[in-house]
Amino acid sequence: MNPKRIPLIAGNWKMHLGLADAAKLAREIREGVGAGDAEVALLVPFTALAVVAEILKGSPVKLGAQNLHWEPQGAFTGEISAFQLADAGCRYAIVGHSERRRLFGETSAIVAKKLAAALAAGLLPILCVGETLEERESQKTWGALTEQFRAALTGLPPVEAAKITLAYEPVWAIGTGKTASPAQAEEAHAFIRKLASQAHGEGFASALRILYGGSVKAENIDALMAQPDVDGALVGGESLKPISFLRIIHYKTLAAAGTRRP
Ligand code: 13P
Repeated sequence: MNPKRIPLIAGNWKMHLGLADAAKLAREIREGVGAGDAEVALLVPFTALAVVAEILKGSPVKLGAQNLHWEPQGAFTGEISAFQLADAGCRYAIVGHSERRRLFGETSAIVAKKLAAALAAGLLPILCVGETLEERESQKTWGALTEQFRAALTGLPPVEAAKITLAYEPVWAIGTGKTASPAQAEEAHAFIRKLASQAHGEGFASALRILYGGSVKAENIDALMAQPDVDGALVGGESLKPISFLRIIHYKTLAAAGTRRP
């Protein structure tokens, strides 16, 4: 990572945890987080937002959601708007996670609408892009990333685009235990930064935070964070385990002290 960009370690809890377990985990993270150099966010299920918001009050850990609807309000049964998320205490919201794209038919056009809605409500979007295994194996990685990036950012004024955090999440690495190698992550992040530069210039690109997501663990976070274009992590499964997630959050401190988990 580049010291000019503040790293972000975000835990995506996905569709896990009832209220008691959510509260317990949020408390453990709040207590263990300390004064690190990285920003920390918990992206929790809608049902847990109010409870976790209360626990995180006064702590540096930020709250976020995993999805939103693009309309501010209306007859959209079962949906939650960006305004409602901001009102519930969210600072961040994931937009365009590959599970939403793949399992719930979210097209790039829908992702663009959600991105704009999140920004309009004052949320900081974490925009996910990433290629499938088939795309990687048929040399279509760069095309897929370009399409997803451009479709989401086209038409966004630079001042709004500057509020976005990108997350590169190769679909083949999500929940599979198969992490992209630090070199593979760096190659993709550098490519995305080039797309950012083409979209809004050098200044925008060099300030853009790009997280890596896909089987991030205590064991691989240091090597990933050592890459110049990796500015943090979007962590799924391991964010549900307080010891592992805290170790990921503390990547730098512990790495600098030479401490390693066995
Ligand atoms: P895993 O860390 O479980 O692979 O999930 C990654 C992810 O999808 C985070 O958004």
